[in-house]
Amino acid sequence: MARSLTLKSTKQLLSGYEIPILGYGVYQTPTNVAEDVTVEALRLGYRHIDSAAAYKNEKEVSAAITKAGLPRSEVFLTTKIPPAATGYDAARQSIEDSLKKAQTEYFDLILIHAPFGGKEGRLGSWRALVEAQKAGKTRSIGVSNFGVHHLEELEEYIKSGGGGQIAVGQYEIHPWLARSELVAWLEKRGAVIQAYCPIVRNQRGDEPVLKELGKKYGKTAAQVLIRWSLQKGLVPLPKSVTPARIRENAEVFDFELDEGDMAKLQTDKYEPCAWDPTVNQD
Ligand SMILES: NC(=O)c1ccc[n+]([C@@H]2O[C@H](COP(=O)([O-])OP(=O)(O)OC[C@H]3O[C@@H](n4cnc5c(N)ncnc54)[C@H](OP(=O)(O)O)[C@@H]3O)[C@@H](O)[C@H]2O)c1
Repeated sequence: MARSLTLKSTKQLLSGYEIPILGYGVYQTPTNVAEDVTVEALRLGYRHIDSAAAYKNEKEVSAAITKAGLPRSEVFLTTKIPPAATGYDAARQSIEDSLKKAQTEYFDLILIHAPFGGKEGRLGSWRALVEAQKAGKTRSIGVSNFGVHHLEELEEYIKSGGGGQIAVGQYEIHPWLARSELVAWLEKRGAVIQAYCPIVRNQRGDEPVLKELGKKYGKTAAQVLIRWSLQKGLVPLPKSVTPARIRENAEVFDFELDEGDMAKLQTDKYEPCAWDPTVNQD
């Protein structure tokens, strides 16, 4: 039941591990503030950090776990193999580099950041991930920005002996890009879906529907959007470097959008605010 969700709620992944349902995004979080803002998020109760090699702050966000006085095992830490490291050898190296930078024995989740590099590149990266998981360097593995055609290519490889399980799919998802086909594909296979840009990078605050619902529930546009994501069964990853907003984005467990209001947020639009590698055809 959505109503009973809390900041401590988790979902079980196909790997058997638990993932906290609200993540803290750190894309474009500058190195010089990354440690402090992540400590702030952890202090407020977030237990899930969405990092990536490409964000260049793995060292700082991981250091924040220790600085916050938390054992590594209490925080779900994600990284991603960047597009520049596609393919078996480069992906293997990228995983080692990330472990070193974050000074951690393991990640909770490593994703392929985007489906670039052609079939050989994608499947080579996946092979490196499967090996890393077997070696205990990551607990779960998954993909980000893969279109259904990329997912089907990967599924065929997995079934024909490549192995591994797509535990997580990470995508830009919000009411103006609900991605129902992709979500259905992944849900059917038991994968957990993370929503990036869950507050549409703060570009939709003036939408009449957000103003109306914000007023009705006494919540901000960002809170309505994060709540929408949670009630859709997604794992939203809002990013902020502003302490008041970090707190605001976690204060989404004391209200519930009713069915009619969830329906009002169904726009059937396809309007990404970030990149959209799902449509990549190589
Ligand atoms: N896999 C991928 O390809 C991919 C792509 C994009 C993002 N991501 C992940 O998803 C996370 C979130 O996506 P995102 O950072 O692009 O977008 P987002 O979380 O939708 O929006 C972040 C922006 O909204 C502002 N903001 C945060 N909370 C707010 C609030 N309560 N009220 C008003 N404005 C607020 C932030 O400003 P301040 O920081 O200045 O407060 C920042 O400018 C990323 O950090 C990253 O971890 C993954």
